[in-house]
Amino acid sequence: MLGDLRKRASRRRLLAGAASLGLGALATACAGGGPPSTPAAKPTPTPEPSLRGLAQARGLKIGSAALPLPREPLYQETLAREFSMLTPEYTMKLDHLQPAQGRYEFDQTDAIVDFARREAMDVRGHTLVWHGALPDWLVDGGHTTGELRSILRDYILTVGKHYRGKVVAWDVVNEAIRGDGRLRDTIWTAGLGPGYVDVAFRWAHEADPDAMLFLNDYGGEGMGPKSDAVYSLAKEMVERGVPLHGAGLQMHVSIARSPSPEDVASNIGRLGGLGLEVHITEMDVRVQDSTLPMDERLAAQARIYGDMMRVALDAEACTAFVTWGFTDRHSWIPDFTGNPDAALLFDEAYRPKPAYRALVEALSGA
Ligand code: XIL
Repeated sequence: MLGDLRKRASRRRLLAGAASLGLGALATACAGGGPPSTPAAKPTPTPEPSLRGLAQARGLKIGSAALPLPREPLYQETLAREFSMLTPEYTMKLDHLQPAQGRYEFDQTDAIVDFARREAMDVRGHTLVWHGALPDWLVDGGHTTGELRSILRDYILTVGKHYRGKVVAWDVVNEAIRGDGRLRDTIWTAGLGPGYVDVAFRWAHEADPDAMLFLNDYGGEGMGPKSDAVYSLAKEMVERGVPLHGAGLQMHVSIARSPSPEDVASNIGRLGGLGLEVHITEMDVRVQDSTLPMDERLAAQARIYGDMMRVALDAEACTAFVTWGFTDRHSWIPDFTGNPDAALLFDEAYRPKPAYRALVEALSGA
């Protein structure tokens, strides 16, 4: 698996020129407007200008977070048509997979993973170790440090083995670093000490030796204290021989605040220098913090999506570009911020937005 992805990364350079020539016309047609494909109406199998098709030609996986399935038909249709990678948005977290101590519930997540496999999409596992999405039995359990260690070990081995061979990449530890660059204090640092990060990766590797194992974090996409700290942690882990294979840049940004493309390119470059792959793991672009008219906000949003896609395509180490959902009908941002927003690629009626067309253009080499 690791080899496959790496091969894809190095093949990307070879494919890039020819692919953008070959698919450019289709992409331009799509950029003119309207939904990107209407499979039922076409009698012959002409290639569709989907993000998925365009990204494949560039050697890049393009993905989205996915909610429990099934949903309204357009949800599944759009997801499978446009994306080649899928991340369960919240069902693959500890509170869902182990709602009571020792009782694992996989059905909901298995349905998402089965959907992905039927549609030939790669699955990113999200996430084995986090300070969020913890059930009451764990938070209020009064467990000893020894118990916490065996709870985490049992969890990682059970979940990792359950999805062995089905998950291409795991976000093993999510959001380990604070904004100031220090290791975040969590139930896991309390239970296992700062070494919990290393042991989590070792257990995840034991559970599925072929899965690529990632550190995933937010706010460290460009250069700065946070990304410096993630880089240092990753470097030390690599030096210690910990099975770390990649770094995930969440990329929850807004039109008022996003890292410069140059900074993101530098950061991906230095992570790649450690021998790691980089995935953009959770991109969305908020438009709520602006007083501009909505069409200008959506244009600004589109520029950010397009810029980040160009960075991803240009960076040898970057092999996947994943958004945190795809339709404004289902996005975590309004719940998280308390305000309405439109942070994703399709509007609430599943019509492609300027942001979608910006990705098509970037993928087409425009
Ligand atoms: C969010 C989900 O989107 C929500 O549905 C859930 O209620 C809370 O978590 N960074 C992460 C993701 O790594 O797991 C978070 O997902 C968004 C921020």
